[in-house]
Amino acid sequence: MSPKTAQIRLVSSHPEVYEPCDDSFALVDALLADRTNILDHCPRLCLEVGCGSGYVIASLALMLGQELPGVYYFATDINPHALRVTRETLDAHAVDAELMCMDIASGLEKRLAGMVDVMVVNPPYVPTPDYEVGREGIASAWAGGENGRSVIDRILPVADRLLSDKGWLYMVTLTTNDPSQICLLMRKKGYASRIVVQRSTEEESLHIIKFWRDSDIQLDTKEILTTNKSVPARVKDSLVSQFSQLSFWRGKLIRSQRRRVRTAAEDHSIQITAFMSCICLIKSQSSKKRIVIDISSGVGKDRVTENPEPIFLSGKSTWSPRH
Ligand SMILES: C[S@@+](CC[C@H](N)C(=O)[O-])C[C@H]1O[C@@H](n2cnc3c(N)ncnc32)[C@H](O)[C@@H]1O
Repeated sequence: MSPKTAQIRLVSSHPEVYEPCDDSFALVDALLADRTNILDHCPRLCLEVGCGSGYVIASLALMLGQELPGVYYFATDINPHALRVTRETLDAHAVDAELMCMDIASGLEKRLAGMVDVMVVNPPYVPTPDYEVGREGIASAWAGGENGRSVIDRILPVADRLLSDKGWLYMVTLTTNDPSQICLLMRKKGYASRIVVQRSTEEESLHIIKFWRDSDIQLDTKEILTTNKSVPARVKDSLVSQFSQLSFWRGKLIRSQRRRVRTAAEDHSIQITAFMSCICLIKSQSSKKRIVIDISSGVGKDRVTENPEPIFLSGKSTWSPRH
């Protein structure tokens, strides 16, 4: 029997909650790809930070639950609507998790320190102005500040404190987040890393990175710290080589699509706020209203009124900038 994941038709939704998208699917695919290892690993406690719709934590519980009953699942989100939606998604799949509304895992750091065996995160990673980070509602799903790293850089030390000695972290990143530098930061904390899934969508290049504590690296790191050396060139080279293919695909697949969107946006005096895995945010110059566009279907939704907005991706624009 193939391992189950959450069914999209049973995933609940709310206009202020991130719907499962390419990045969510890539994260679940990474967990599926590593499922046999996770089962051998016998986790007792799994945590998702930023659970959104609940698609990922429900999928994790379903894919492990068949063979590993008794695992305890936690999920956090800073957006209270997300926790309500996640509860509905879990109930619809007859799985359970303890849900908490908090910044990253701020209320869990004492209770779960050194206890989390599997941690999964699809963070807000879209480069935005810093003032957009931490806004209420759906904006918290993508606003990542400079290089999309504001929230990611706060999650890494939390993960280090929460993970058990055998703990694994799976995290979604974009090329623009400088994933090799994230790996170097984690390496300095004694973690090895590898890309479990890499996927180039039409407008971004996603990679799901797995981190785990490695005693050899911990020795290396001690040496680096005590002798005040920087990370050895061989280490940098091996990290960089993991990511080098990504820039090729990213350039090839994304450039033409983005050029079309930018040209059409300019024609209509529409400002593009951000691109992320399968959506593009635009802002009308006149009213500053935000529209969220699903690039794959070419349909945008005004997040305020929920009106569908056909847009300009199919060549000639059908979108009228009446906002
Ligand atoms: C890209 S969405 C991912 C949602 C879901 N995990 C998925 O993959 O579909 C990021 C989620 O992180 C949440 N989030 C953003 N900043 C957070 C923070 N500081 N602490 C906890 N959750 C946060 C957002 O509300 C959003 O639900």
